[in-house]
Amino acid sequence: MIEWMDGCARWISSEPPPEWGIVLGSGLGRLVACVEEEARFDYADIEGIPMSGVPGHAGQFVVGTLEGRRVIVAQGRAHLYEGWSGAEVTAGVRFMASLGVRRLVLTNAAGTLNAGQPPGNWMVISDQLNLTGTSPLLGGANFKDMTAIYGVALRDRFKAAAMALGMPLFEGVYAGVLGPQYETPAEIRMLRILGADAVGMSTVLESIQAHALGLEVAGFSCLTNWAAGLSPGPLSHAEVIEVGGQSAQAFISLLAAVLGAR
Ligand code: HPA
Repeated sequence: MIEWMDGCARWISSEPPPEWGIVLGSGLGRLVACVEEEARFDYADIEGIPMSGVPGHAGQFVVGTLEGRRVIVAQGRAHLYEGWSGAEVTAGVRFMASLGVRRLVLTNAAGTLNAGQPPGNWMVISDQLNLTGTSPLLGGANFKDMTAIYGVALRDRFKAAAMALGMPLFEGVYAGVLGPQYETPAEIRMLRILGADAVGMSTVLESIQAHALGLEVAGFSCLTNWAAGLSPGPLSHAEVIEVGGQSAQAFISLLAAVLGAR
């Protein structure tokens, strides 16, 4: 189904190539069970795609059909905080684009900074703050316009579908930080002043890369916890995975509604 030529992947199946790419964040892996699966391959088997060592990130691509649409699902991602570069953590996006993907849905787990947007809910990303200190476009004069990374038309389709489903869907700005440590309360106050509604350790470089390639991008944060200083207890990855798992079904229904709409 995929052939390698001069270091580039080529789609060689008689089935059409995937049109939608979906990147799953922490605890959201169960979406894969809804895909009529045709093939699955490990990141390790694809040139240049780093393997995440983080629990909750399987490190596999699943190709198939979801609600009649051709999809490729990236189950898990590599992160900057594991030591990968901006180019490496976005290799999967370039790979999906090279197969034919035109629309990319990025999901992540995030802490919420917005008192009106409690954990357990989803936020569609309207814009982002790339605070990682790096870019996937490093290395040249890639002065790409980033005025509308997250396409309004695609976002509106998700918002309309959420409303029809009666699913609360908040909207806001995602701040992408390096990690791997969670933030301090002072950093969270700073991020709030900067205009962030949610904070996490992924997504911002993938969206920059995808937008630079001309893909339509939608981004979603599963709000898994109050950000540091906004809740009485300490933050934990176990809580992030647990709330992500509990909230996955709502997002699966939303995605199915948008993909299934004709
Ligand atoms: N901060 C950063 N990344 C995260 C958080 C958080 O509170 N929750 C899930 N990912």
